[in-house]
Amino acid sequence: MMKTIHLIAAARPNFMKIAPLYHALSKEPWANPVIVHTGQHYDKNMFLDFFRDLSLPDPHISLGIGSGTHAEQTGGVMIAYEKVLFRERPDLVVVVGDVNSTAACTMAAVKLGITVAHLEAGLRSFDRNMPEEINRMVTDSIADYLWTPSRDGDENLLKAGIRPEHITMVGNIMIDSLVMMTPAIRAEQERERLGLAPGSYGIITLHRPSNVDHRETLEELCLALERIAKKVPLVFPIHPRTRKHLESFGLSHLLTENPDIILTEPLGYKAFMNLVFDCRFAITDSGGLQEETTYLGIPCVTLRPNTERPVTITQGTNILGTPQTLESDLRAVISRGTTSPPEGWDGKTAERVVQLLKKLFFVG
Ligand code: UD1
Repeated sequence: MMKTIHLIAAARPNFMKIAPLYHALSKEPWANPVIVHTGQHYDKNMFLDFFRDLSLPDPHISLGIGSGTHAEQTGGVMIAYEKVLFRERPDLVVVVGDVNSTAACTMAAVKLGITVAHLEAGLRSFDRNMPEEINRMVTDSIADYLWTPSRDGDENLLKAGIRPEHITMVGNIMIDSLVMMTPAIRAEQERERLGLAPGSYGIITLHRPSNVDHRETLEELCLALERIAKKVPLVFPIHPRTRKHLESFGLSHLLTENPDIILTEPLGYKAFMNLVFDCRFAITDSGGLQEETTYLGIPCVTLRPNTERPVTITQGTNILGTPQTLESDLRAVISRGTTSPPEGWDGKTAERVVQLLKKLFFVG
């Protein structure tokens, strides 16, 4: 009674969420895990480097959708994935995170009566200006199984009227990748390659449309980074969206001409996490880095007015900040100290999901 399970991988943050589950399912005699890459991220350093780092095979199915407007991307993925679903009819589709492909594949599958599980369900920023918030709301309201990373996720879903039997707190799957990859991350020498001593630098990532798509905001952010870099050197791997806007707004020189800011191309998982492991602090608008720094006990300022991951603030090392207050935000979060990781952030989420699936498929 082989069960075919599609794992949807679309954009960079999805890859470390499907990897632990792929590896865990591959060990199960009853499971046939199939990786479906929608093509939302396609550059080598946004996609293939991650597959290699995480020991994933090449995708079994590639939809090849690529970049576009929200509707183009979402619609493109729905149309292409529906064709695959007609042909294959998997026993389960697992979607992760909150990118356009997450919502698109969920809609395509649910409408064909194919069971969908959302891993990392229930997160809410309550900010509908974020495309991800819309994707989370759509996905969670129609998926069959909602697997949450933290208790706040359960509460959000219950408040949205989801029945409790659909919700299970499974923990944080990203931490599984981190735990699994820690020896390989330590063995990587990215920090040495950049000539940086442990604890001597900050790491920066910025790519949210609200931060990088408007000239004034992006300029303000660059100026804030300039002020910080005078005291502590910064490493800034630049996301393609951010690079595109820095260039089109004529702001690149603010970063490229600053000797205290090291700019790099987007890095693979091992190289990037090697830098994170030994940094003094992170400044970011990423969802994943808020969680990784909380797990590692590294101070993090999130340059956003809200977060869908409040547990990283209440039980972690994260605070929300602004470009105007960045220096004092950093001081505040550094002086706050560390706590132990939230419940279920223990590297065993994939194991718990496999147990759930066994019950689901074979006990009923
Ligand atoms: C997407 C997700 C976001 C996630 C982020 C991680 C949505 C709505 N957004 O945002 O939640 O945090 O991925 O990176 O799904 N591009 C390349 N090469 C690539 C991919 C993209 O050059 O491999 C460029 C294209 O010019 C593209 C732009 O980056 O238009 C943005 O890519 P897109 O996938 O639309 O959104 P992200 O900003 O990456």
